Amino acid sequence: MLKVVAPMAGITDANFLNKVIPFGFNVATLGGYSLDAPTIEASKRIIERGRKEFDFPLDEIYSHIENEVASIKSVHSDVKVSANVRSTTPQPIIDVGNIPDLDIVEINCHCRQDEILSIGCGQEMLKRQDLQDFVSQVVDNVSCEVSVKIRANVEGVNTLDIACLIEDAGADYLHIDAMKKGVFDADYNLLKDICNNVHIQVIGNNSVNSDVNVKKMIETGVNGFSIARGVISGNLDFNISDF
Ligand SMILES: Cc1cc2nc3c(=O)[nH]c(=O)nc-3n(C[C@H](O)[C@H](O)[C@H](O)COP(=O)(O)O)c2cc1C
Repeated sequence: MLKVVAPMAGITDANFLNKVIPFGFNVATLGGYSLDAPTIEASKRIIERGRKEFDFPLDEIYSHIENEVASIKSVHSDVKVSANVRSTTPQPIIDVGNIPDLDIVEINCHCRQDEILSIGCGQEMLKRQDLQDFVSQVVDNVSCEVSVKIRANVEGVNTLDIACLIEDAGADYLHIDAMKKGVFDADYNLLKDICNNVHIQVIGNNSVNSDVNVKKMIETGVNGFSIARGVISGNLDFNISDF
């Protein structure tokens, strides 16, 4: 079972991940990082309105990620390290996917801040006509595994169709925030539907914040689950080791 620390921009750096991995996680996600000029500009505007984001200049981002990966691997050599990244074009993501020792590059099709949406990034990626080609280009040109993080139930987007498209593009993992508007729990029925219709490894995300919800998530048929807010304090007040 994949047990993943989900990305939280500005929080999930190597220092934070090294502290929380011992709770039982076997995949640790760095980022999300912005990789090209449009996404870095968008991140700067997000920071200006008070959000904590990572914001590295273009010439520093790759060495920064490389150092962060090394810092985790030096303490937790058995844990897979993933980097969640935003870019309007595939090449910067390919460059991250070729960083030595990085296990997974995760394409962010999830963020929904206005600044990111207005440049066609984050969850707007789900509406791109060339999404499959975008993902395939990354898959075909990196040395590590590829994950695609998506948000479920985005208006105007059929989540199951997107899951099939990401599978067809050759990605290794579909990381899905199974959020449903107005519901304070994951959309377990949607996850079941997706798991019944794809063979790609599915990582279920949203509201994994108790033993009960871990069980509900696993019962959908996912290959793993991820946790963000449940570990944001640097503590996890339920046990994931037994799953
Ligand atoms: C402060 C914060 C920052 C986040 N940043 C990112 C990010 O950079 N990339 C991403 O894909 N998801 C990001 N997320 C979303 C989480 O990874 C996760 O999908 C969401 O919080 C739902 O999972 P949870 O119920 O376990 O928190 C962020 C969430 C929070 C709370």
